Amino acid sequence: MVDEAADRVAAWVRPEIRALSAYHVPEAAGLVKLDAMENPYAWPDELRDAWAAVARETGVNRYPHPQAPELKAQLRAAVGIPPEADVLLGNGSDEIIQMIALALAGPDRVVLSVDPGFVMYRMIALFAGMRYVGVPLRETDFGLDLPALLDAVRRERPAVVFVAYPNNPTGNLFAESDLVAVIEAAPGLVVVDEAYAPFTDASFLGRVGRWPNLVVMRTVSKMGLAGLRLGYLVGPAAWLQEFEKVRLPYNINVLTQRAAELALRHKAVLELAAQKADWSKPLAPGKAGEKRARGVAVHESFGTVVAQVAEVTVKDNTFRVDRVVCAVDCGIAVNPDIIRAQMEGGIGFGLSAALYGKVTLKDGLVEQSNFHDYPLLRISEMPAIDVHIVPSTEKPSGVGEPGVPVIAPAVANALAAATGKRVRALPLSLA
Ligand SMILES: Cc1ncc(COP(=O)(O)O)c(C=O)c1O
Repeated sequence: MVDEAADRVAAWVRPEIRALSAYHVPEAAGLVKLDAMENPYAWPDELRDAWAAVARETGVNRYPHPQAPELKAQLRAAVGIPPEADVLLGNGSDEIIQMIALALAGPDRVVLSVDPGFVMYRMIALFAGMRYVGVPLRETDFGLDLPALLDAVRRERPAVVFVAYPNNPTGNLFAESDLVAVIEAAPGLVVVDEAYAPFTDASFLGRVGRWPNLVVMRTVSKMGLAGLRLGYLVGPAAWLQEFEKVRLPYNINVLTQRAAELALRHKAVLELAAQKADWSKPLAPGKAGEKRARGVAVHESFGTVVAQVAEVTVKDNTFRVDRVVCAVDCGIAVNPDIIRAQMEGGIGFGLSAALYGKVTLKDGLVEQSNFHDYPLLRISEMPAIDVHIVPSTEKPSGVGEPGVPVIAPAVANALAAATGKRVRALPLSLA
């Protein structure tokens, strides 16, 4: 029986497939697992609770939406996909490589990439019956060997060129001008694989549409969501409409769709707040004896996600909050002015509690009697506040309270950055 099966396999399974070994994932029990570039940290409890609430409302009895329009809208907002570009979703970007190969395959068609490069380009070329050509990287610095690459492009006329930007496994970012030369020389499609986009500011995403043969591929795997299996391709509609035809229906399951929407919403507010607060640039220094620092926090409540960056100045055992940059996603912004005012009010109210809100008991009696011994934030202590609203197509959610709970952790994080010490009690105090 076994021999008979082996005979039939030999007769029917393509020799190049029989010669392969299946994708091997080494056992990692007991090791610090770094080989797959996953985020080693799980979601914080608060996000897990939010996800549990979403999962409870998610029907698994129905097929998922085949086009996942809500997830695509969230992706567009969270990663800044050019509005004129199309988006295609894959069960991981591996599946997108496969869709591209299936659509472009032919007996004499070539997949071209660099070696060492991401192993799945070669593997999937083989699965699809295409010829793989790998152009060696420069030995000195793993840079692109541009003359050799351009020669190979002219000689092989590849149906598709894959370049990982930054590259895996070498970890370097190729020169942008080299990539442009390849795009301009290639007769077919060029896929700039930005799987490692979370590790660099360099990207071709904003230039999709500039060349007729450029598409950009991304994944959520390397931003900490490898378990969701979600990749996306951004490019001109003419290409993506063809790839849609080989996409299996319902390839993005409903739990992945909802979980990615939740995570991307948080990412969008966090990044907007960080960008508007110039998080990547150093803060202006304080006066002699002062330390200045920033802290950030994100919180979801009443269906609204808020991120705040607090800037503090610490001197001796005292501190003041100079500025707060707040980003909010409350669905469709019906009245932006009121949303801004609510966030400002929430920050003032939350700061009052964070700095002063303390009721003490003595001999069974509350000691505080009125505002003279239960202080509130004074107008002179109100920080400068900038509020930014994330564009959204979600239904409107709350704006009254969601600005409040974010400010204390943002300020506590800023104090930790300034002093190296964690304040874990309210009201916040360095004394
Ligand atoms: C360069 C590159 N592209 C694509 C992928 C595949 O990512 P996904 O998890 O989305 O299938 C990886 C995964 O390691 C990668 O390194």
